Amino acid sequence: MNSFWSVWVIVLSLFNIFGCAFLLWWTRKMPLSHVDADNTTGHDYDGIKEFNNPLPRWWMWMFVGTILFALAYLVLFPGLGNIPGILGWSSAKEHDAGVAEMRAKYGPMYTAFYKTAIPDLIKDPQAMRIGQRLFLNNCAACHGSDARGARGFPNLTDNDWLYGGTPERIEQTILYGRQAAMPTWGPILGDEKIRQVANYVLSLSGRNVDNDLAAQGKQVFMTNCIACHGPDGKGNTMIGAPNLTDTIWLYGGSLSTVIHSITAGRQGKMPAWKDRLGAEKVHLLAAYVYSLSHGNSPE
Ligand code: HEC
Ligand code: HEC
Repeated sequence: MNSFWSVWVIVLSLFNIFGCAFLLWWTRKMPLSHVDADNTTGHDYDGIKEFNNPLPRWWMWMFVGTILFALAYLVLFPGLGNIPGILGWSSAKEHDAGVAEMRAKYGPMYTAFYKTAIPDLIKDPQAMRIGQRLFLNNCAACHGSDARGARGFPNLTDNDWLYGGTPERIEQTILYGRQAAMPTWGPILGDEKIRQVANYVLSLSGRNVDNDLAAQGKQVFMTNCIACHGPDGKGNTMIGAPNLTDTIWLYGGSLSTVIHSITAGRQGKMPAWKDRLGAEKVHLLAAYVYSLSHGNSPE
């Protein structure tokens, strides 16, 4: 707030408060031009007559009390423009104090979890409850609340891993994120070779394919694809190249989808969480994810 608006607020607030006080003082004895013998003013509304009585005392004191309260409040708390108030209270400080209190309360627990190895941590129901809550808040939007994923977002419950399923690999994935890089083969190979290699890829998981095309596709695969997917097509968890010999597909296993994956390439991105959540929470998340394929299913 710049100083003009600050002064504006101060003037308005004080004008109102002192205005009320002035009105109270000014109206306490109104000399009336005319008072009847029975002490009424002559005003008569539907049979209700107005007496010329002073305000009740208790009402007056309540009014005075409100004015004093307002002034005391403005001395103690921020309210008059930029003036902070002598107590030094602020919503930011209150928030920080709340955060510090939470840290003091839950910090030691998180630290203890952090020091526990993941295979042990998954046996701790409290750690798993917190892990699940973190998952629902941060991960479910992409991986689903049951962690079973969706097209382009891997299923985390099946013990089939793009980047490896050891506790360490899972933790690395969540801490630093992952960026997949499946090249765009359309301009390099052309439609015919892509149709061949797609048939070969599908044959790797035992699908019925055009055998002639698949045989030609094998050549294409050996020349272009094995650097990442391996000579046997089983993939490489160092770079997240999927295993093409199983029936689990990240993007779909129909011939047309596989052709599309190869033609246009795929660049799945898993965000990094270290800065957003901190290493301790990521540790709990890694344990929760690990537990999903190691005997603990989400409720
Ligand atoms: C530079 C490494 C690299 C090369 C070379 C490569 N791929 Fe890939 N491929 C990947 C990665 C990484 C993914 C995963 C993409 C993702 O997760 O978004 C992938 C994904 C795929 C998929 C999708 C799998 C699924 O589960 O949906 C298919 C199909 C595929 N590749 C086939 C091929 C074929 C055929 C070739 C050769 C013409 C090839 N790839 C060459 C790295 C590579
Ligand atoms: C914006 C969407 C998005 C969010 C949010 C997200 N992920 Fe992912 N995650 C992905 C994608 C996409 C991949 C696959 C990357 C690829 O194609 O290579 C992935 C991959 C992973 C993997 C690797 C799976 C494997 O097979 O190796 C793990 C583990 C994982 N995510 C856990 C999490 C956790 C835990 C959270 C929450 C903290 C989270 N993800 C939040 C999109 C997301």
